[in-house]
Amino acid sequence: ASILVIQGPNLNLLGTREPEVYGTTTLKDIHQKLEGLAQTQSVDLSTYQSNHEGELIDRIQKAKQDGVNFIIINPGAFTHTSVALRDVLAGVAIPFIEIHLSNIHQREEFRKHSYLSDIATGVICGLGAIGYELALQAAIAHTQK
Ligand code: DQA
Repeated sequence: ASILVIQGPNLNLLGTREPEVYGTTTLKDIHQKLEGLAQTQSVDLSTYQSNHEGELIDRIQKAKQDGVNFIIINPGAFTHTSVALRDVLAGVAIPFIEIHLSNIHQREEFRKHSYLSDIATGVICGLGAIGYELALQAAIAHTQK
């Protein structure tokens, strides 16, 4: 199976960005951990980060052409703003898990609404970096059924 991990804006700053909210694990650490897990399960894993909405959309369109089976996406702040990101995920019809490091329901009001959650296979939030490992496990199970 082919699984794509997409990271939205400011996630490149993980490790130093508001560590009390997002933890001290870097994006590189998270991706290395996932690549290790993927290898043991013979899964083809790709990772991608961008701060730009249009680039994220282009990458998701490309995923369709590449035959990606499942997406794990942390849309960052675009979670709460982007109809375009919702439309492309609906458009390519690749099943996806929405993930957030922080518990978005415990924070400011504006973080409680997501444009993606109702069309996601599942949502993980508030578990920090481990959430990505859980998401990958769930994604693999989903592609095997
Ligand atoms: C986030 C939560 C979002 O509200 C925020 O804008 C982010 C990160 C998270 O992983 O907790 O950039 O998606």
